[in-house]
Amino acid sequence: MYQALYRKWRPRDFDGVVGQDHITLTLKNEVASGKFSHAYLFTGSRGTGKTSCSKIIAKAVNCLHPADGNPCNECEVCRGIDDGSILDVAEIDAASNNGVDNIRQLREEAYFMPSVAKYRVYILDECHMLSPGAVNALLKILEEPPEHVIFILATTEIHKVLPTILSRCQRFDFKRIKSRVIADRLLYICGQEGLSLSEDAALLIARLADGGMRDALSLLDLCASYSGEISVGTVTEAAGLAGQDYLFSIADAALAGQPAEALAQVHALSENSVDFSRLCEQLVNHYRNLMVASTVKEPEDLIQATPEDLERLQAQAKKVPLGRVMEGIDLLQDAMGRLSRTAFKRTEFEMAVIRLCSANPASALEERVTRLEQAWKDGAVRAAAPDERPDPVQAAPARPTRTKRAAAASRSADPAPGPAPKEGQTLPEVEPFPRWAEVLEQLQKRNGALYGAMVDSRAFTRGEMMLVDCTGEMFRSLLRTSVAAKESLRDAIFAVTGQKYNLGPYTPGKYAVAEQKQEEESDPLDGLLKKASELGVPVELKE
Ligand SMILES: Nc1ncnc2c1ncn2[C@@H]1O[C@H](COP(=O)(O)OP(=O)(O)OP(=O)(O)O)[C@@H](O)[C@H]1O
Ligand SMILES: [Mg+2]
Ligand SMILES: [Zn+2]
Repeated sequence: MYQALYRKWRPRDFDGVVGQDHITLTLKNEVASGKFSHAYLFTGSRGTGKTSCSKIIAKAVNCLHPADGNPCNECEVCRGIDDGSILDVAEIDAASNNGVDNIRQLREEAYFMPSVAKYRVYILDECHMLSPGAVNALLKILEEPPEHVIFILATTEIHKVLPTILSRCQRFDFKRIKSRVIADRLLYICGQEGLSLSEDAALLIARLADGGMRDALSLLDLCASYSGEISVGTVTEAAGLAGQDYLFSIADAALAGQPAEALAQVHALSENSVDFSRLCEQLVNHYRNLMVASTVKEPEDLIQATPEDLERLQAQAKKVPLGRVMEGIDLLQDAMGRLSRTAFKRTEFEMAVIRLCSANPASALEERVTRLEQAWKDGAVRAAAPDERPDPVQAAPARPTRTKRAAAASRSADPAPGPAPKEGQTLPEVEPFPRWAEVLEQLQKRNGALYGAMVDSRAFTRGEMMLVDCTGEMFRSLLRTSVAAKESLRDAIFAVTGQKYNLGPYTPGKYAVAEQKQEEESDPLDGLLKKASELGVPVELKE
């Protein structure tokens, strides 16, 4: 079976852990000298090596032939720990075993001598999720752990860990890994895997992964499914990114106050199925670069760009006042927040671009948008007034079926014949989707990385939406970084159902009927949508 790269390349000894030398060197020395601690606390952002180091410690202290503090990975103990057959080493997900009884049980067991290994090692992942009772139970044994027991607590949210726990553990902070270090690791792995990866593609993946090695490897996996020769173009495509030229063109148009031109550029990008959240992020970064370029004389160290792009940035920055650029950053960051919440990503992004074109509030366009918004609000109030409703009898015939786009544009704003059928309008119900296992089977063939991230998921349908219940970080990061991942999931669903579903997240408790209606009706975006289409902004229902 296909094994995701990040699983396959989990470091097996301290020397294989990159970018955390301050930690691995200390741990190696402690293990080699036998003066290791009986309670460790690992903290730091996701995918930076916490679980990997925990497992290495568990093996190193128990290994029959340790070398220099590293485990040999070959003796029966190392192998038994790796394949989970030696029960003296336990990896416990504190998020799902967070009760006081779980910890009491663990404590009772811990006082017994280990059966095969020298040390019992308890790895408590997500330890900030323990209930207060469980923490108390844990404190008792952390105060004076038996000689044969080692606790390794790991968390991404150190601020949620009680000081009483912190004070009993030796703490290590895992850092985000530098882009250069991640890139080198990717290049090494590609060499071993027989994949070709260009230097700048490696750096681009590293930058996108933002310090997390797991995310970097997942993205690499995705790129490899596109092509065995991974270039910047491959990464751009796999991650749904816009190329530099597009960013320059959009910024050029925006800074020159040409909304039509800016929208044309966005349109060209949408043909390449770009991810609009990503695009917005990239544009923020582009504006940030402009800000730095117009502030700093020699910005080479502060801006990651090729020398040619740097020159272009400096030229573009010369043409606009700094204030305008900073206003643009503000505006785009607001849009980023909204983009993460709306299903109408393209529209949201286009609205941001139009605002960007007139980042000066007194401009005519801004005024026009404000006027349109106001007109819309007034119109909505009138449409709801009972005396102005058309005769209900007239409205009796079923409405003609509308395309999804039109429906989205006018969902609550439709001034077409017929009263807004508020009471009668039934929204599709949320129902468990029974054939999800088949979908996952299909997905496995299409995208190993995404499949790996979704094994424990389930799904619900609601009309044309497929609501996926999957909380994994990997899942979210794949869907965020990659249009292709989303496509492969849609394809898998299509293969099973023969229907095109739109994807959405399933949030338990969100779909009570009343709540649902309110949500549908009070979405302010719906109103703007219609007006946006009057402004010539294409309206599209995506995801
Ligand atoms: N420092 C590192 N050096 C080499 N590979 C790494 C490093 N950190 C993470 N990885 C890669 O990412 C994968 C996941 O790492 P790991 O499980 O150790 O992360 P974590 O810090 O425990 O993350 P989380 O907070 O999500 O549990 C590993 O299997 C490995 O492939
Ligand atoms: Mg972990
Ligand atoms: Zn060994």
